[in-house]
Amino acid sequence: MFARTIFSRNRPKIVSLSNDARFKLSNSAPINEDCDHKPRRIFSGIQPTGSVHLGNYVGAILPWKKLQDSGEDVILEIADLHSITLPQDPKNLSQSILEMTASILACGINAEKVILFQQSSVFTHAELSWILGCTCTIARLSHLPAFKEKSSTLKDVPVGLFLYPVLQAADILAYKATHVPVGEDQWQHIQLTQDLAKMFNKRYGKCFPIPHTMITDNVYSRLKSLRDPNKKMSKSDPDPRSRISLLDKPDEIQKKFKKAVTDFTSEVYFDPERRPGVSNLISIHSIVSNKDIMEICRESKGLNTAQYKSLVADAVIEYLKPIQTDYHRLLSEEAYILEILQNGADRAKEISCRTMQEVKDKIGFSYSSKNTSFVTSRI
Ligand code: AMP
Ligand code: TRP
Repeated sequence: MFARTIFSRNRPKIVSLSNDARFKLSNSAPINEDCDHKPRRIFSGIQPTGSVHLGNYVGAILPWKKLQDSGEDVILEIADLHSITLPQDPKNLSQSILEMTASILACGINAEKVILFQQSSVFTHAELSWILGCTCTIARLSHLPAFKEKSSTLKDVPVGLFLYPVLQAADILAYKATHVPVGEDQWQHIQLTQDLAKMFNKRYGKCFPIPHTMITDNVYSRLKSLRDPNKKMSKSDPDPRSRISLLDKPDEIQKKFKKAVTDFTSEVYFDPERRPGVSNLISIHSIVSNKDIMEICRESKGLNTAQYKSLVADAVIEYLKPIQTDYHRLLSEEAYILEILQNGADRAKEISCRTMQEVKDKIGFSYSSKNTSFVTSRI
């Protein structure tokens, strides 16, 4: 309750993701109308843990694709440095990085249109993270809700978990990104990024743009768990029936929808407050059928919930088919995926090294050309 109050009071300016009605924000300008930063640069990331579910697809990957397809300058990272804030099995981690890359590509991200890279291949993130960490206070980090929530379940809290938002700020600022599309749960981290950028600019002179948060703020922005529609669909839910993985087989999808928790009214209409379960099914249906909610409700008149669940399951199965085919094809071409990541890392390094040079010059780590000969002669 308390967190909720803070949340709405401090909510930052949010920028719309696209003109598509299904991805529109209630209170914001459509794409390209946002003003202060030209040209725009979009940066986002996803951790390579667990398999991608429909919630990730709708809340993260689909918005990225929309930005990519509108010709925006988009940089995406597989945030593997973030993922080791909690223990990972090394064998699984490298496979998960390949799988996450294949999933993103199979969902329509085109590595010729965006920069897609693996975070740990680009050393500037860790370097800038240290510098930003030196301007950030312990008090500021310890108040972040994601840290409080995650650390509360651990006996020994790793320093990495505490510093994670500073690394995220470094990811964004290393590219001088102007816009950051993230899920609702991440906006405090972008707010921290804004504060760190302002602090750096104030202390050392203007270097970073202040990045905007982009959040899909509508019924699709949080797909709910199929087992408990009051919770979000999540990778970390111990019950796999709570989520539809992009790689689920048709019979698994049918079973999961059949078991989806709804209510005792056997009619299909949209009311997220009073009927979160059925409304979640309608949201999913709307995404995969490209129809709006009114149209779906009109077409589903006369169906009972069981029949409707089966219809949604069929629509999801159809929708995921080409994604799954592409995913399996890509994953069998490991060298191709590695080439994409390598190429992405080269391009990411080029941009972020330029920023780092500017940062170092401002801080006083660099020497004027007169003194450089002295320094190099000592190496
Ligand atoms: P996570 O699975 O928490 O690592 O999140 C990866 C990305 O997917 C983030 O941008 C989240 O905000 C987004 N996301 C995760 N779960 C959902 C959900 N149920 N609905 C919409 N977006 C989600
Ligand atoms: N922290 C984000 C998550 O857990 C992933 C992420 C890492 C990210 N670096 C980022 C997102 C930079 C946006 C910008 O979902």
